Amino acid sequence: MTLHVLMVAAENDALPGGKVGGIGDVLRDLPLALTELGCRVTVVTPSYGRLADLRQLGHVAALEVAFRRANIPVEVVEVAGREHVPQVRHIVFDHVDFSPCGRGTIYCDDPPDRPFATDASKFALFNAAVAEALKQYCIGEIDVVHLHDWHSALLLLLRRYHPAYRKLRSMRFVYTLHNLALQGVRPLRGDPSALESWFPGLRYAKALVTDPRWPDCINPMAVGIRLADAVHTVSPSYCDEILRPSDVAGAGYYGGEGLQADLVAARQEGRLHGFLNGCDYPDQLAPVPEWSSLLELMRAENLRWTAARAQVGGAHFVAHVRLSEMSAKRPTFILSSVGRITSQKVRLLAEHAGDGRAALEGVLDALGDDGLLVILGSGDPVLEQFLAMTSARRRNLLYLSGYSDVLSQALYGSGDLFLMPSSFEPCGISQMLAMRSGQPCLVHLVGGLKDTVKPGINGFGFEGKSLLQQADGLLAALREALVLRSNHPRRWSTMRKAAARARFSWRSTAENCLNLLYRAG
Ligand code: GLC
Repeated sequence: MTLHVLMVAAENDALPGGKVGGIGDVLRDLPLALTELGCRVTVVTPSYGRLADLRQLGHVAALEVAFRRANIPVEVVEVAGREHVPQVRHIVFDHVDFSPCGRGTIYCDDPPDRPFATDASKFALFNAAVAEALKQYCIGEIDVVHLHDWHSALLLLLRRYHPAYRKLRSMRFVYTLHNLALQGVRPLRGDPSALESWFPGLRYAKALVTDPRWPDCINPMAVGIRLADAVHTVSPSYCDEILRPSDVAGAGYYGGEGLQADLVAARQEGRLHGFLNGCDYPDQLAPVPEWSSLLELMRAENLRWTAARAQVGGAHFVAHVRLSEMSAKRPTFILSSVGRITSQKVRLLAEHAGDGRAALEGVLDALGDDGLLVILGSGDPVLEQFLAMTSARRRNLLYLSGYSDVLSQALYGSGDLFLMPSSFEPCGISQMLAMRSGQPCLVHLVGGLKDTVKPGINGFGFEGKSLLQQADGLLAALREALVLRSNHPRRWSTMRKAAARARFSWRSTAENCLNLLYRAG
């Protein structure tokens, strides 16, 4: 019998405009790998006022969803993915409340005094609509519902407590947590974006719903961990790390972010699993550009981002100046880094190393005048400014503030060493993409980075019990890499080959899903 899996998520990169981060990649690739094992997969997301405009393949349903004491009309449509795969369907739920921050925006930024308010209401309505669709069987018979991160976790609450959705109990529900740093915590009541405002009259057991630190708040991430039939995180090491409490201030490790007791319980009940995401390995990778073409591409992308705004941004201007100064000769060593500019990804570069200066300064010292650090990505304005200001002082830092697929690909191929100093990393995809192109990585040995990069064999790593030790470890590892590259070219080339040969296959991820999550129990 074919297993029909319904994936419920905020992102789906099989649809143009459906991705912000790594979850989008997973929802693009994992369904394909599951179909190769004989499954049928349907992926559902909100339309965000835009995805329903993709080529429609059919009208699935017009739902009336009970939400905030009203019946909300939600349209459900099937749309075409980037490529046609018979066993994978993409379905989007459409209603104006799925685009409260403008057409096409997947996540909203709420002010610090009302974190997650807009998104939590949006995803609560989405979850209720998916529950209604499941109850009416409009997406067909479903065997397994696979939820991703806090955005879809309220389905478990509706399944458990909502009298209209008892039918959902006959289906298996599994939950993947991609990033414990985002939990979607909201009040139980007393706010328009609160559990009892969304579902008035719902009777629930507080202990199963509330946050361990804020007993008057619902924590959707905790609901996912407590109520799913199986829970999964995206690497074995991250799965171990989150069982301990966080010590972000002191040792700088992230642990279970307040939910460690729930995670330990899930582990003891045999419900918690950790296995790696995969990476796609096409027969042919895009050709590695010559330095002159790379330079041209960086200039063009930076100008495009500059032109897209009414005013010239500081980071774009500094990058423009740095790019104009660059000569036709390739730097002797390119340290590259691609990813969102968030505290998770780049905080360590701003931390003090043993010499009292930001670790980034030490990195640039080590690279010297002939080396170059290229950082591509956008995100947190404070961190972006830190990078732009450092680049304004230091010629061997090029900070490109934006997102560009073609430039990312070019950098995966062109860099000599790929830097990923993440404070924590549930799995990470960039390091796999860099390795795939034969670029060894220098990483903080945590989570998925520890499970993919093998220091001395296909890359370099560092760890440390405090932020200071980590910053010093990073610099020591970089110096080691630079020495290896200039003094031992044969060993360097062996390392590059080992990086290119490493395989993290989606097939094995899909097999683990089947054996550990979908079929168990
Ligand atoms: C999140 C994590 C990242 C992981 C991705 C996909 O974005 O931060 O480490 O690779 O989810 O699971």
